[in-house]
Amino acid sequence: MKNSLYILILIILFCGCKKNIPIECSDNIGLYKFSKYPIGCAINFDFLNNDNFYRNISLQQFNSITPENIFKASFLHPSESVFDWVNADSLVRFCKINQKRLHGHTLLWHQQLPNWMNYFQGNLQQWEAMMKSHIQTIITHFKNDVKAWDVVNEAFNEDGTLRNNIWKQHLEDSYLEKAYNYAKDVDANILLFYNDYNIESNNNKRQAVLQCLNNLRNRGVKIDGIGLQMHINTYSTDQSEIANTIKLFSDNGYKVHLSEVDISVNPLSLTSINKEIAFQRQANLLGGIIKAYNQLPQRNQYGITFWGISDKDSWIPAYYNRIDYPLLYDDNYSPKPMYCALKNNL
Ligand code: XIL
Repeated sequence: MKNSLYILILIILFCGCKKNIPIECSDNIGLYKFSKYPIGCAINFDFLNNDNFYRNISLQQFNSITPENIFKASFLHPSESVFDWVNADSLVRFCKINQKRLHGHTLLWHQQLPNWMNYFQGNLQQWEAMMKSHIQTIITHFKNDVKAWDVVNEAFNEDGTLRNNIWKQHLEDSYLEKAYNYAKDVDANILLFYNDYNIESNNNKRQAVLQCLNNLRNRGVKIDGIGLQMHINTYSTDQSEIANTIKLFSDNGYKVHLSEVDISVNPLSLTSINKEIAFQRQANLLGGIIKAYNQLPQRNQYGITFWGISDKDSWIPAYYNRIDYPLLYDDNYSPKPMYCALKNNL
């Protein structure tokens, strides 16, 4: 009796203390080793080659890699008759040697286009031929090493209409169908994704994308998955809407890639941020997202990719010209609370 009372007191004390312990975790064992699905990061090719901390973390923590820039059209296809494979092949070798999955990003987009493509002159047939050769030459080159591609990136406007990019201007709405068919014709086993942002927060866009993908699929077009970029923030992001979106696409039979995750703590561009509060919010948000993602059937869990490694190398501060801390590691490569929230929920 005395013993069980003693044990009870110990349990109460232990539970009580545990609540007050800040989330802590070590980064000695890589994230992906805890995970049933791939955990990835976007890789900046220059940092990979010049910063040992960056390189070591990428090797130790992640088992999937998305090239942040060097697989985009302006890098791979700088002029009409020239493809430049040098850096891309070097990243392929890095992934192969270190057994990292390489996710292809991206074939058709409206940004980071080479000038020759932006200003290409031609009739419908010539545009078709140009797009076909762009898609098929790239997929073919990496056929043995890149088994999944973001074929089309950011094709929709916020109001759910199709973005008026060069592909729509010259090939009309059917460019999407053609693009996926050209990709499939190279190798029907390669996974084909559609990738976009704000799908988790904007219902117009979400419904438009879902309807478009379902229509294409009903016409026999191969689309295997959706990339939800998830450039989200700690202010306006609604966790339950994210959970519903993830489930919606999975229930519709698509693999779900959380493809460019970062969590801004300063979407309002304030001049200073209380890091302690902000980082805790970030951690709570990410923890909830991981819990929702864990609910998907394994066949639809393509993986979760963070858009960079440390706050120092995130695209957000430069692109939006503000201070921000959106990633798993801080400027000194120490793991932040959101790293622990991720690890503890995998
Ligand atoms: C960004 C890169 O991170 C930046 O380095 C580059 O200057 C612009 O592109 N959506 C995408 C990514 O699909 O390719 C973008 O990456 C971020 C938004």
